[in-house]
Amino acid sequence: MTLSNDLLLKAAKGVPTDRTPVWLMRQAGRVLPEYRVVREKAKDFKVMVKTPELAAEVTIQPVDILQVDAAIIFSDILVIPEAMGCNYLMEENKGPVFPQRIQSIADLNTLHVSAAEELDYVYQAIKLTRRELNGRVPLIGFAGAPWTIFSYMTEGKGSKTFSAAKKMLYLQPEFSHRLLDMITESTINYLKGQIKAGADIIQIFDSWAGVLGPEQYNEFSLKYIKKICDAIEEVPKIVFPKGAFFARTELEKLNCQVVGLDWNMGIAESRALMPSKVLQGNLDPCALYGTLSDVKAEARKLVDGFGTSKHIANLGHGLYPDTEVDKVRCFIDTVKEYSTSKKSARAGV
Ligand code: CP3
Repeated sequence: MTLSNDLLLKAAKGVPTDRTPVWLMRQAGRVLPEYRVVREKAKDFKVMVKTPELAAEVTIQPVDILQVDAAIIFSDILVIPEAMGCNYLMEENKGPVFPQRIQSIADLNTLHVSAAEELDYVYQAIKLTRRELNGRVPLIGFAGAPWTIFSYMTEGKGSKTFSAAKKMLYLQPEFSHRLLDMITESTINYLKGQIKAGADIIQIFDSWAGVLGPEQYNEFSLKYIKKICDAIEEVPKIVFPKGAFFARTELEKLNCQVVGLDWNMGIAESRALMPSKVLQGNLDPCALYGTLSDVKAEARKLVDGFGTSKHIANLGHGLYPDTEVDKVRCFIDTVKEYSTSKKSARAGV
């Protein structure tokens, strides 16, 4: 299918575009009242994830309402542990909880490497979304990085420090590598399934990269992200290593086109450390709490900072649920208008 807007795919491949493409992490289902209507009807988050019609509907909402340059499939990184045999509950106002966290080599016997087919409901959602998007914008598939998935499976819930997960790395390195290997193999199967179903590009979320130091990050996270990147050649890849500013020299060597930056990572320094990469990001999501004129100024500063090539505009992490929709829209519109005007000024139009 030819896309009428392929800015994201072009930018990801480093091809010059007329303006900077923009999408937002967690654009599907955090701030839109239209999402809440669907969510209340479905009652349960997991029901939404497993019902392709509902997942497709909320995936497309930000494309219609916010006019972003890409859709990201509505799902969760935690579908992988569930497919491997480690069930999770999504508790209201609390987040994910794993009733049976994984703690020992014996526990690994309760798990299996998930085959692509086990996540068929996600592929059905991707197929339906693609049909309904009808080529308007590309569709992003995603998965969690093995370390981030490992963190939830061993910690059993969200955490500020993930100290229970890190304890495993110190006390049970063999167990840790075996579990990380199983997650990696499952993730490769899963991403290949998403691509076969129609994902145009994929993003790997390493949301808890920043709780590790450089050495542990190389050994327990980057090594497995590398395996995934080397196994997937069909579409461009975005790696988002939240908090891993210390790993940028290593990330430059990764077989991916795009690296997502959080707001702790300076733009000039990141360009210098990762000259071959297209960069994505990195406005602090809290900047969207400012006034409309503040948001406009921040968006312009972002475009000035990254320049008009090799950049995909986004936030430095997902949207916060209490962000006002008009601020989100202002950010998106400003990136589009300002990067267009900068490009045409440079081209002498
Ligand atoms: O980006 C998108 O809009 C696509 C959908 C998406 C969701 N989760 C839907 C969701 C994506 C890409 C994710 C990824 C995800 N899930 C990550 C990585 C990105 C990040 O923010 O760091 C992580 C760590 C998770 C795990 C997770 N899922 C948590 C901690 C929570 C609870 C708190 C929260 O973030 O809202 C979820 C639930 C979740 N995933 C919701 C949505 C829309 C809220 C569920 C609801 O409607 O009640």
